[in-house]
Amino acid sequence: MKILHVVGARPNFMKVAPVFHAMSKYRDLNQAILHTGQHYDVNMSDVFFQQLGMPAPAFNLDVGSDTHARQTAEIMIRIEPVLLAERPDWVMVYGDVNSTVAATLVCKKLLIKVAHVEAGLRSFDRTMPEEVNRVVTDQLADLLFTPSQDGNENLEREGISSVRIHLVGNVMIDTLIKMLPSAPVIPHPLERGRYVLVTLHRPSNVDDPAWLRLLFDALVEISEGNTVVFPVHPRTRKHLAQIGLGTERTGNIILLEPQPYLDFLALQRDAALVITDSGGVQEETTFLGVPCMTVRENTERPITLSMGTNILVGRDISRIRSTAAEVLAGCAKKGCVPPLWDGKASERIAMILVGEVQAP
Ligand code: UD1
Repeated sequence: MKILHVVGARPNFMKVAPVFHAMSKYRDLNQAILHTGQHYDVNMSDVFFQQLGMPAPAFNLDVGSDTHARQTAEIMIRIEPVLLAERPDWVMVYGDVNSTVAATLVCKKLLIKVAHVEAGLRSFDRTMPEEVNRVVTDQLADLLFTPSQDGNENLEREGISSVRIHLVGNVMIDTLIKMLPSAPVIPHPLERGRYVLVTLHRPSNVDDPAWLRLLFDALVEISEGNTVVFPVHPRTRKHLAQIGLGTERTGNIILLEPQPYLDFLALQRDAALVITDSGGVQEETTFLGVPCMTVRENTERPITLSMGTNILVGRDISRIRSTAAEVLAGCAKKGCVPPLWDGKASERIAMILVGEVQAP
């Protein structure tokens, strides 16, 4: 049986790795990885494959960056001949990036079955490109693997048959549990529990120069009492440069290149507070028990609010300042680890898929 895993952007790589490893235990499954090339910088892509022990992708579409329509269309155009030549029995898609929805659309027109890993998450905010990708992918996919019960509820509300839905847990946490013992010591001059880690890359935070400046000013203020370390996504670096920011050191803010998986995991593990707009970081900090502030109006991962350490601070500078001050004064919210975030989600996925393949 042929399985093709389609990935394209940084947050896909830590999700495909455990599924690929779990499936490699089944001799009947013949699997390959297709990389769309949505992310192409060495430190946004190759370094993740190396650290996660993944083979180089068998196919690389090299699509690169472009507008949403052009990028999505280019992936569709370039993936179709590969699918026609390879004719996989199942295509596995991950998360909510443009590569996820593009591959799903093409597969369904070719009558190739699709399984969506990390299905059912909803921010209920269709101004986010990822929300559009989630809704379309979930409507079309044949099998939907959800990380938490809210995912099942969202899918059933949208009329998706419960037969297609499987609550398996969080594959990204599978990777975290496996890799955490290999995470390095944090670099000098950072000290455990004495710095704030920042990641920001959403268009809603970085594409508006006035808001980005306000946010950066708030970070400079937070850095007066604590070192702030900020690995900068290429999109963010471009927008910071346009407003004259982004030199190596501003105040007590250390700006870094995007970090490899293990190095970033170490930075999260030892931070006093993480300020982010990423999806995955909300989940990883919840698992690690590290306080997290999410600079967004909503989240598709509500379990990190109800059970975890995450606080939604919105686009509200005074709230960002006051919440950071509270957490850094020791009044952080305590959380616990959600059910099935136990390192075995990928094994469950592999077992279910093998059952599907063997079904008459
Ligand atoms: C994409 C995902 C987002 C995910 C993020 C993680 C979509 C719609 N968005 O957003 O959900 O959270 O990845 O990083 O799929 N660039 C480089 N090198 C690269 C990749 C990008 O320089 O390797 C620059 C380009 O200038 C590009 C910009 O970053 O225009 C944005 O990249 P793109 O893939 O369009 O979206 P992300 O913001 O990375």
